[in-house]
Amino acid sequence: MLNMAKPILAVTSRYTKEVEDRIDRDYNARRNPDQFAFSQQKLLSAAEGADALFITPADRLDSEFLQKVSPTVKVIVTYSVGFEHIDLEAAARRKISVAYTPGVNHEATADIAMLLLLGASRRAYEAQELVRTGAWRPMTPDMLLGWQVGGKVLGILGMGRVGQAVAHRARGFGMKIHYSDASELPAEIVGDAVYHKDPSDLLRVSQFLSLHAPETPQTHHFLNAKTISLLPPGAIVVNTARGGLLADDELIAALKSGRVAAAGLDVFEGEPKLNPEYVSLKNTFLLPHIGSATIETRTAMGMLALDNVDAVLNGRPAPTLIPNRGREVA
Ligand code: DGY
Repeated sequence: MLNMAKPILAVTSRYTKEVEDRIDRDYNARRNPDQFAFSQQKLLSAAEGADALFITPADRLDSEFLQKVSPTVKVIVTYSVGFEHIDLEAAARRKISVAYTPGVNHEATADIAMLLLLGASRRAYEAQELVRTGAWRPMTPDMLLGWQVGGKVLGILGMGRVGQAVAHRARGFGMKIHYSDASELPAEIVGDAVYHKDPSDLLRVSQFLSLHAPETPQTHHFLNAKTISLLPPGAIVVNTARGGLLADDELIAALKSGRVAAAGLDVFEGEPKLNPEYVSLKNTFLLPHIGSATIETRTAMGMLALDNVDAVLNGRPAPTLIPNRGREVA
């Protein structure tokens, strides 16, 4: 890019060193001075005259934002697989390409789903508390009894890349895999996993349930009092996808009554705020949306994001443009 002005990239967050170095090398970066999402007004100002925006799910790009955004912006890329925070139709009306980062975070996210599954089923929060507060007393045979995972049915809602990677791991723990998705997947991909077209049928057999569906108007509050009542009593629920898939009050009621034995949650509706009752319950194992948080994955996500910006600014199609009706799962 010698002798040419570098394109202007508005960047709303901080990334791993390799990604930051590439941004500094190839772009004139307009950075967010703090670690948090820009306010819409600040992002609109940062976008004035910019060629591209590099955002995260913490930035909400609604139709008002997209109507007002600078006409110089040709591409927006979100550092995520989920894209419920962007009004795609409003972006299309402005002829802005919107890209995302699929295909690189499934292994890391599946690791966190297993951490949640094991953390919830083996009461890791209470165990940590005993050790950290000094309340640990000599072992008694009934101390902190959890629920074995081996031999149990794991129901996976959404058999995209993350769901498949979770199935792969859970098989290693001796779990039986069932799943529901829009259509049945070939045995080369899902092995002997049992398919349920109707998610209600999946719920009926799911001693453990792991959610891997995108949040859409159809999946919003998928798990609610009615669907919880289909689960086997004492089921364990895991969510690494999006908080909006759960009706918090109804899951909390089920956790209090024991209808759901435990929950492992990495994502929350309205995060970083979460329903405080989750925190006061002992049968929850909670993480702050760290599904993709490994150095390797976060670097790969950043590099893919920048590949998209480079492509569009050089007149090529974005390699991972958000499809009109994405089924990619966070
Ligand atoms: C994703 O990629 O959507 C993850 O949830 C990180 O935001």
